[in-house]
Amino acid sequence: MNGTVLASLLSGARIMPVLTIPSAASAGALADALAAGGATCAEVTFRTPDAEQALKTMAAHGGLTVGAGTVLTPEQAERAVTAGARFIVSPGYDEQVVAKCGELGVPVVPGIATATELMRALRAGLDTVKLFPAEALGGLATLRALSAPFPQARFVPTGGIDAERLTAYLPEPAVLAVGGSWMATRTHLAHGDYTAIRRLTAEAVGRSTR
Ligand code: 3PG
Repeated sequence: MNGTVLASLLSGARIMPVLTIPSAASAGALADALAAGGATCAEVTFRTPDAEQALKTMAAHGGLTVGAGTVLTPEQAERAVTAGARFIVSPGYDEQVVAKCGELGVPVVPGIATATELMRALRAGLDTVKLFPAEALGGLATLRALSAPFPQARFVPTGGIDAERLTAYLPEPAVLAVGGSWMATRTHLAHGDYTAIRRLTAEAVGRSTR
C-alpha cells in the first residue's frame, strides 16, 4: 500500500514541503535548511526548467527523502526516478502515471478532488491520495465528507494550506500528512532565505509531531 511506504518515508514528521525551485544551484542549501528544520521528505515539483537537476542534487545531497511532484506523464515519472525520486506525486489521477509508478516500483500519491477519482485510486490498490487543491475544495469539511464512505482512504491535503490552517488538519485520523509550499515559498527560494525556511519548517514539524 502506498500509504505504508509514505508513512515510513515521513518517519513521524507528517509534513510534506512542496518546492518549486528556480535554480538547482540552491538545492543543497535548501535540503540542509529543510532537514535542519526537521523535515524528512520533500516534493520537488516539475514546474521549473531546473526541477530535474534540483531533484538530482537534493537526492544526492542526503538528509532528506526526495520525491517528485507535478508529475503529469509516465515519461516524467521515469525521469524523476532516474534523478533519484523515491516517491511520485501528481496533482490529478492519471492511470498511466499510476501504472508506470507500479512498473518502476516507486510509491505514487495521485491527486484526487472527487469521490469518483478516489474510487479509481482505491481500485488501483492505492490507499493514500493527495486531496488537491484542499482549501479551494472546501478544506477539512470536504476531507471529512470524502472520508465517510471511504474509511480506508488516507489523505495528504495540499493546496492553500498555511501554518495556521495546518493545525486543523493534523488531528484528523484520515490525514496521513499535510503538504504545502508555505515553508519554502517562491519568495523564500528567490531570495535564498534559508533562515525563514528552517524556522517555518521547524514550526510545522513541531506541530505535526506533538
Ligand atoms: C502543490 O503542487 O501541491 C501545490 O501547488 C502546493 O500548494 P500550495 O502552494 O498552495 O501550498
